[in-house]
Amino acid sequence: MWYKKSISKLVAEAQQSGEGTLKRTLTSTGLIALGVGAIIGAGLFSLTGIAAADHAGPAVTIAFVIAAIGCAFAGLCYAEFASMIPVAGSAYTYSYATMGEFMAWIIGWDLVLEYALAAATVSASWSQYVNQLVINIFGQGLPEAILHGPWEGGLVNLPAIIIVVLISLLLMRGTQESALVNNVLVILKIAVVLIFIVLGWSFINPVNHDPFIPINEGEELLKAGKIGMFDFFSEGYFGHYGISGILRAAGVVFFAFIGFDAVSTAAQEAINPKKGMPIGIIGSLVICTVFYVAFSYVLTGLANYRDFQGDASPVATAFAATGYTFLNTAMTITIIAGYTSVILVMLLGQSRVFYSMSKDGLLPKIFSDLSKRQTPWKTNAVFMIFVSIFAGFVPVSDLGHMVSIGTLFAFSLVCIGVIVLRYKNPTAERPFKTPLVPLIPILGVLVCVAMMASLPIESWERLGIWMLLGVVIYFVYGKKRSVLRREIESGRYEQD
Ligand code: ALA
Repeated sequence: MWYKKSISKLVAEAQQSGEGTLKRTLTSTGLIALGVGAIIGAGLFSLTGIAAADHAGPAVTIAFVIAAIGCAFAGLCYAEFASMIPVAGSAYTYSYATMGEFMAWIIGWDLVLEYALAAATVSASWSQYVNQLVINIFGQGLPEAILHGPWEGGLVNLPAIIIVVLISLLLMRGTQESALVNNVLVILKIAVVLIFIVLGWSFINPVNHDPFIPINEGEELLKAGKIGMFDFFSEGYFGHYGISGILRAAGVVFFAFIGFDAVSTAAQEAINPKKGMPIGIIGSLVICTVFYVAFSYVLTGLANYRDFQGDASPVATAFAATGYTFLNTAMTITIIAGYTSVILVMLLGQSRVFYSMSKDGLLPKIFSDLSKRQTPWKTNAVFMIFVSIFAGFVPVSDLGHMVSIGTLFAFSLVCIGVIVLRYKNPTAERPFKTPLVPLIPILGVLVCVAMMASLPIESWERLGIWMLLGVVIYFVYGKKRSVLRREIESGRYEQD
């Protein structure tokens, strides 16, 4: 279970060109666009409001900065790997080469939480904006019963299921997201964010920003020595405003940054991955951070943070305070289009990861069966059903928490991987080096674990159950069927 793939072999394979290999078409700008395209979505347009209402108030702005710092540490580690091992498969492949098969399996299995459940989360929140559009046009929304799952007072989130099915069918047909379409969507998304910030700025009501950090009663009692740490946590004070609320909000809005690692899955399609990968990953992170901070500042300035309670389409709620409500419909349509691209990239990423795992023998062959149009259509079909169930029935905030905890876990492992490889293989060519190793990766792990710690205990339990299931599947299925294991044990594969 500790067998490792050889980095030199991975790199050699990735450098092949010609028929049967991915085309290298993406420039650094294209990679940044890809990143921003995958990043801006439900996290910004839906969770910002919820995080403000439930956890941080206007200080959700600070939560974005904290989440961005955590991502920057992990992003630097991703950049080192992605420029060094520029292959599709991202974190899964990096761990296969650094920490061995078992850890690779763990990461690959964990990535389902990131990609598949992120697609479910974004779809669930997509339907709220579709409802908003229906309200804008017809004056009346869709029935609650088909807008929310049973835990949120409805029956099923039907629009969410419809979009998952439509995009999955599209992927099965082999739709290639051309750089042009992606760039158009990114420009639209950026336009809507900029319009919101610029037009909304002059309507900010300072009253809404006061207090910037709403008081957490428990923190006050703690400071005054009236309760102890145990009570603070056990009585549910943690995370409801105050400093702990900012931390919890950071864990929630972390979701908004997910996707920068999707840049690394396109490493094999980059013209110059050694330079392009770090620029794409770090560049898209920086751009999004600037947007997010400004956006959340305006959002919480336009309406009181409490108004966003349970509101999955806060942009419309906030924009009502401006004189530009006639732009609402156009903005809603743009947001819907923007969400669609996130769902597409996530489902695509998911199928790529399972495709790689199946190729390696760790998952059944059906996950790498290609259709005539060369798409892993069976994987797409399986995830169409899996993601639909989650999107249709599970509350959006529970989904968001699961995605965040799963992704933070993957990021922590990537950070650890950088340290491991520096010690095990110090001489390997590293076109981009994470600065200050091991400090940056260690800080990366600490911030990621702190954000994980701030998420509700149920997310931990669910993560534990999911990973346990993964471990069982690995020992019952994958370990025996591993292609690498067979090759190594028959002397056909030499490890580095
Ligand atoms: N970061 C992506 C979003 O916010 C997943 O929708």
